[in-house]
Amino acid sequence: MKHIVLVGFMGSGKSTVAFRLSYKLKRCYMDTDKLIESSVGMKIAKMFEEKGEAYFREKETECLKNLSKEKGLRIISLGGGTPIKVENRKLIKNLGTVIYLKASPEAIYKRLKHDKSRPLLRTENPLQTIKDMIAARNSVYEEVADYIVNVDYKESKEVVDKVMAIVQKLEKEKK
Ligand code: S3P
Repeated sequence: MKHIVLVGFMGSGKSTVAFRLSYKLKRCYMDTDKLIESSVGMKIAKMFEEKGEAYFREKETECLKNLSKEKGLRIISLGGGTPIKVENRKLIKNLGTVIYLKASPEAIYKRLKHDKSRPLLRTENPLQTIKDMIAARNSVYEEVADYIVNVDYKESKEVVDKVMAIVQKLEKEKK
């Protein structure tokens, strides 16, 4: 078994689920957004403002390359846009088992409507932005994923249970 990697749109619950999984599986949890923030020494929103999105995207690829050298088994939560670059998709797949936390635009909007930390959603009509972005990205998430877990209207505990069932199945197959 390799790392468990969570992908999905902003607000799909990747960080919360990864955190809970790390506790259940007794594995360290790593979040690419947080790793990038600490390596650059700046919050993502500020990074987009001061250095631009392209800079952040370069850091994402760099971060994936560093993660591929990680020795222990980890739970890794990726930023919502990480799988967009083709180069990144290959790196992501090589990290381990990829699980897509799939959410509808409406559910995402409900979760993020008061959130100020996502620069890409600071638009006049965030719901429409979310709809457009999910329409453009869904096939990319599906392409990179080994498993898809629907998270709409589920508590994070329920999502964690579903991911745990996948992990247990993989562990059993390995034996
Ligand atoms: C982004 C998602 C964010 C963060 C950045 C860009 C995206 O991560 O990486 O704001 O392009 O979808 P979360 O998915 O953790 O919010």
